[in-house]
Amino acid sequence: MIYPIVKYGDPVLEKPAAPITTFDDELRKLADDMFESMYAAHGVGLAAPQIGISKRIAVIDVTFKEDPNGKIVLVNPEIVHTEGKLTSTEGCLSLPEFRENVTRPRKVTARAQDLNGKTIEVTGEELLARALIHETDHLNGKLYISHISALKRDMIKRKVRKLIKQGEW
Ligand code: NI
Repeated sequence: MIYPIVKYGDPVLEKPAAPITTFDDELRKLADDMFESMYAAHGVGLAAPQIGISKRIAVIDVTFKEDPNGKIVLVNPEIVHTEGKLTSTEGCLSLPEFRENVTRPRKVTARAQDLNGKTIEVTGEELLARALIHETDHLNGKLYISHISALKRDMIKRKVRKLIKQGEW
């Protein structure tokens, strides 16, 4: 099932999501639906709050279907190690049409659980590092625009308000 993507302005995006304690078929179905919704929206990462579900699960595929092993599911993730810095443009499916330069660690390790509840660690560099940290941020109610200047953030907020008024958001 393809879910519509929740856009910036919806409070679900700015509250911490609830930990997942049950690892069952329902959770597996949610992960499948999240991949489907992410691919349909042409994204490389998606967190459950972005489909209106305030639970700590995110999916990532920075290869966008190129590599069948590129699919990553993170349940209850936390960032346990970061290294270096890299500034690159970043976007978010919940803020369509906007992109900004964001400085992130170059290398990131996330500890999470898989769909069976087993603890896993995923380490990524560059785009994968960015995705690991961006999606974990989502589960803490944080969007990438909290990492840009207040001036740029206010500009985006103003544009979004205008789009909402025009019924185009
Ligand atoms: Ni995002």
